[in-house]
Amino acid sequence: MRFDVLTLFPGIFQGYLEQSLLKKGIDAGLIDIHLWNFRDWTTDKHQSVDDTPYGGGPGMLIRCEPVFDCVEAVQKDVGGPGKLVMLTPQGERFDQKMAEDFAQEKRLLLLCGRYEGFDDRINQGLKPVEVSVGDFICNGGEVPAMLVIDSVIRLIPGVLGDETSAKYDSFSDSGLLEYPQYTRPREYRGMAVPEILLSGNHGAIAEWRRQQSLERTRQRRGDLINGSHTCCED
Ligand SMILES: C[S@@+](CC[C@H](N)C(=O)[O-])C[C@H]1O[C@@H](n2cnc3c(N)ncnc32)[C@H](O)[C@@H]1O
Repeated sequence: MRFDVLTLFPGIFQGYLEQSLLKKGIDAGLIDIHLWNFRDWTTDKHQSVDDTPYGGGPGMLIRCEPVFDCVEAVQKDVGGPGKLVMLTPQGERFDQKMAEDFAQEKRLLLLCGRYEGFDDRINQGLKPVEVSVGDFICNGGEVPAMLVIDSVIRLIPGVLGDETSAKYDSFSDSGLLEYPQYTRPREYRGMAVPEILLSGNHGAIAEWRRQQSLERTRQRRGDLINGSHTCCED
């Protein structure tokens, strides 16, 4: 799968691209990430990408011209136009279902804002899918874009060592939070691993996990059960 990140700060991604699953996925040819800087599509000698808002008010807005030109050039690059996503706190809330939908795409273009955000004609003209990572304000769209990439790549076949890991993750197949898990040692500071997990009885373990998952979800995220996830009621 190909990701094109359009940003004013491509350097922010450098460390992230060189680590862990993402690097392995890139090295294995499963993930392809391209970074583009809006500034490379400016025409004035100061390479200005922002300007003050009409009507006054604080801060600066990212101007239309470098964004339209950058997006149009990147869409013409190999691989088809792809799905254009704008990271914005005003967008639809990102969740596991959206990550699963995005993972079906061949190519995602991620538009990262900065300052006070984008001139609104960028949304009107380019019609991106607008995506928010939560009801809070980040300084830029780069960390939100990394969050989208990080959750989508887990769902690309071959990226995780064990394909079943994503299946049991919270919010995934069952729509519930995952059950509690433990590793060695069997006892730590007086806290013991539940006996059932040491029993070797796979049926009983699966049932225990299902109950724990349900209970944990009821306690912490009742909305997941009371909402559309009727699959999980007893
Ligand atoms: C400081 S924010 C601008 C916020 C804008 N003035 C508003 O109130 O909607 C700058 C950029 O950070 C990104 N950003 C901030 N919070 C975000 C969030 N919760 N989800 C996605 N992107 C976000 C967007 O790309 C945005 O253009």
